[in-house]
Amino acid sequence: MDVSPFPFHGPLEPDQVSGRDDLIADLVERVSTRRVTALLGPRRFGKTSALGRVAEQAESGGATVVSVDLYEVSSMADIAVRLDDALASAAGPGVAQLRHLAASAEINLGLVKLSFARRSADQPDPVAVVHVLLDTLVAMGRRNPTLLIVDEFPGIDRVDGAAGLLRTKLQGHVQEIGIVFAGSHTSLMRAMFSDVERPFYGQADLVEIGPLSGSAVTDMIERGFGETDRDPGSVAAHVYQFAEGHPQRTMQLADAAWRHAAPGERHHDDLWVEALPDARAQTEPAHESMFSRSSASDQKVLRLIANREPLFGSAASFVDLSAGAGQSSRDRLVNFGEITRVGQRWRVVDPMYADWIRRRFPM
Ligand SMILES: Nc1ncnc2c1ncn2[C@@H]1O[C@H](COP(=O)(O)OP(=O)(O)OP(=O)(O)O)[C@@H](O)[C@H]1O
Ligand SMILES: [Mg+2]
Repeated sequence: MDVSPFPFHGPLEPDQVSGRDDLIADLVERVSTRRVTALLGPRRFGKTSALGRVAEQAESGGATVVSVDLYEVSSMADIAVRLDDALASAAGPGVAQLRHLAASAEINLGLVKLSFARRSADQPDPVAVVHVLLDTLVAMGRRNPTLLIVDEFPGIDRVDGAAGLLRTKLQGHVQEIGIVFAGSHTSLMRAMFSDVERPFYGQADLVEIGPLSGSAVTDMIERGFGETDRDPGSVAAHVYQFAEGHPQRTMQLADAAWRHAAPGERHHDDLWVEALPDARAQTEPAHESMFSRSSASDQKVLRLIANREPLFGSAASFVDLSAGAGQSSRDRLVNFGEITRVGQRWRVVDPMYADWIRRRFPM
């Protein structure tokens, strides 16, 4: 059995990323001209995958790339370990120098985690370790072209003082180091760079990652089927109509259809009809539990939006949603990235979730 050409768990390998050429070119241009950039977009829209390509291009242009992942960090020690991991797995021509700089600051890259496992009296001070690691990064950035990628940046908000410390350390070096922040808490990301009270206020240009275009989806599906000797028929059009360019759901649906296609055979018309229930079955338990964890008024707002009903008026009275509750749920759901505004309309970000809600609660 061939490996599916449509992976849908986790970030893609750089050579699997397609349909993002303009975004990637823009980001590469930004980092090479040292414009600090924040890349924002909903969960699973392909931020990490796109940044992997940016890193690859920067590296082949001679930069040393340091990628830090701040997903759900919970303490300064956690941040120290993530930074250490990032420096230890840096790639590019400056790596030897990076190790040398770290060693002269008495840090063994990759081993910081072990130092926090010692008896408490022998443990280093996490804040001091973060200082040294950031100083090392900056020192390297002075000597070598360097790209710093901070993925899941809003995680830093969970640790008191960490954003301020990072800001202080990077300040004054933004001409030397290319910096990209990325994160999926779109409203929190926005606030982190546009709220005067916050350390990174006004420190980055915001760039959004949107859905894939119809032609990107068609190209990708036709290529994936073609390379594995399968015939997609009209599947790409169905996938695009259903998933509206949501990258991960596009891949999942394409994968489901691909599994129903046999190599060397002409497509059969049922490909899409068979694929959709498979993808629904894969995602149903997660949707069920996500929905049941939402508050009653969030559920009402989700029902209305998934069914393309306005939040005020007769459909809202039908589900007994007051204007005030509707508004505050709507704002909360925007903050959590569950809904978004497209033109004049509200949308559930995840088309599979919207589909589940509509089937479960038709209006
Ligand atoms: N350019 C692309 N073309 C097609 N599918 C893509 C593309 N980029 C991402 N995907 C799909 O989306 C999935 C998630 O990608 P990725 O992890 O890069 O997203 P993310 O925005 O970083 O997500 P998260 O918010 O969970 O960190 C991939 O497994 C893949 O199925
Ligand atoms: Mg990611």
